[in-house]
Amino acid sequence: MSVHPQYTVELAGVDEAVAIHNLIAVAGARAYANWGEQTFAEWLQSMYSPEKIEERLRNPDIETYRIGSKETPLATANLTMDGDVAVLGGLYCRNERVGLGTVLLQHRLDRARDLGAKLARAIPIAPNKPAISFLHKHGFHIERQVRAGNRYGEDDPYAHLMVVDMELKL
Ligand SMILES: CC(C)(COP(=O)(O)OP(=O)(O)OC[C@H]1O[C@@H](n2cnc3c(N)ncnc32)[C@H](O)[C@@H]1OP(=O)(O)O)[C@@H](O)C(=O)NCCC(=O)NCCS
Repeated sequence: MSVHPQYTVELAGVDEAVAIHNLIAVAGARAYANWGEQTFAEWLQSMYSPEKIEERLRNPDIETYRIGSKETPLATANLTMDGDVAVLGGLYCRNERVGLGTVLLQHRLDRARDLGAKLARAIPIAPNKPAISFLHKHGFHIERQVRAGNRYGEDDPYAHLMVVDMELKL
């Protein structure tokens, strides 16, 4: 893998919800190809509809980053601080294994350290081998495997999925 130095990370704005949704639709379909169309569509809608993304972009507690242009982002990810824990979420890259994920991970870890984080946590879905391999490669270890739970409301179709809590001491 080579990390391209030209990947510039920028904070995404509220007007980027649709473009980020479109990126996640592409990258997510690759990651969850085995779910079938309907389950994937439900998951995308419950987690990453343009409205939900816009809500997150408006939330001052969540920082959403982007590589690439506003109109056609190449990768996105977000960071939320929970006390001194950096919660890393929503990492989606248009192309795999060209270093986009690494750049966005390093950027968020640097930012989290600046904000006083002592621990970073990422929560991939249990069978997402590329994501788990990626996090292992960057020093994360598996803390526990749990059910996702109704984190996004009572009717969250994501709730039954098994997720892996992965952590890295900062
Ligand atoms: C998982 C993901 C975020 C990794 O980002 P990336 O830009 O591809 O990763 P990088 O190029 O920086 O690093 C490459 C490493 O990621 C992992 N990886 C990426 N794609 C992989 C694949 N198809 N199979 C296995 N491992 C993979 C490997 O550890 C790889 O290292 P290696 O090439 O030495 O084996 C990216 O592939 C992606 O967007 N996947 C779809 C969405 C997703 O699953 N997001 C995570 C939700 S928790």
